[in-house]
Amino acid sequence: MPRLENRRILLGLTGGIATYKSAELVRRLRDDGAEVRVVMTPGACAFITPLTLQALSGHPVHRELLDEGAEAAMGHIELARWAELVLVAPASADFIARLAHGLANDLLSTLCLATTAPVRVAPAMNQAMWGAAATQHNCAVLEQRGIALLGPASGAQACGDVGPGRMLEPEELCAAVQQHFGGAALAGLRVLVDAGPTREAIDPVRYISNHSSGRMGFALAAAAAAAGADVTLVAGPVGLATPPGVRRVDVASAQQMHDAVLACVDASDIFIACAAVADYRPAAPATQKIKKSAERLQIELVRNPDILATVTAREPHPFTVGFAAETHDVLAYARGKLEAKRLDLIVANDVSRSDIGFDSEHNEVTLVAADGTVALPRGSKVRLAHDLIAAIAARYRACRAREHA
Ligand code: C5P
Repeated sequence: MPRLENRRILLGLTGGIATYKSAELVRRLRDDGAEVRVVMTPGACAFITPLTLQALSGHPVHRELLDEGAEAAMGHIELARWAELVLVAPASADFIARLAHGLANDLLSTLCLATTAPVRVAPAMNQAMWGAAATQHNCAVLEQRGIALLGPASGAQACGDVGPGRMLEPEELCAAVQQHFGGAALAGLRVLVDAGPTREAIDPVRYISNHSSGRMGFALAAAAAAAGADVTLVAGPVGLATPPGVRRVDVASAQQMHDAVLACVDASDIFIACAAVADYRPAAPATQKIKKSAERLQIELVRNPDILATVTAREPHPFTVGFAAETHDVLAYARGKLEAKRLDLIVANDVSRSDIGFDSEHNEVTLVAADGTVALPRGSKVRLAHDLIAAIAARYRACRAREHA
């Protein structure tokens, strides 16, 4: 059976040379069984004729917001309700900016606002436009809103430049759509994630902490929930919104995080330890604010419990994934931790770079297992989280299949 049988996909085309690939995309989606309705902006019509898309989709192309004839047939609200998925491919820098700002000044932007269906966006533009701070900011806004970006790919561009900004190929976009509809990789599984820093009290007003923003862990919790898992997120003190469908337990100190994780771990299939847990805490936090007087102040620190190692020391314990944030010899240290903490997987993260890792929107990691490594390229933490969850799900299933063989 075709994998997209009867799926209702609204395909939006905006201005760009990549529109020629959208014709092929329509054909592939329909070959897979999907019903496709096409919406084109005036910019898209400058590159490819609506007649081509009409012939390929089998339906008239929708172009105008304020068109009496079109509204009498399938109006914009009806079209927005009809869609199970809205895919904008290619999405120009201008369209991404309008979407990020919630504008509704043409049919496609209005549909994106009016629909309750998930929206996916495949950017296509010149590499400098893609790299522009405004575009990057707009894309981050979309991702925070749950509008996933598909691509762009990197390579030769129609304008002669080389770099990121190429629209993904039709088969890649088709695969992403299939994954969207069939990709509940963690359906039926319970996933526990810890995230963010911890705070170790020195006195009632001061603490020891670190630069962890919690973004990677929150993105992982969101991606696990999107993959169908029942997700509990134990969060250190961060200013982030709870991802949709995720159960959140807020904690401050490492000891509190330890207790919250252990309270949930027996009811979890997978534990992802993404938190930057403080290794030490003040041995005896003062009960009152410490007054400034002596020239030197010594604070005795004691070791905090290692949450991850505590979990893997229990039998049985869930499939465990750790993080290794390192500034040098990243892979060697990651392998050492994988073994020492008896982990199934470890995500190695170079935190010496300022463009990725701690307190950054982006990350670039290597997934390390006992039998090898997989490098995941630099991307937004949201995008990387989806790739990591897919890889973790695949490893988890393979591991359980081996146990039952
Ligand atoms: O030993 P190190 O801190 O480098 O190990 C990192 C991994 O161990 C991370 O997954 C982190 O969440 C986890 N960890 C922990 N409890 C600690 C320290 C680290 O769970 N006290």
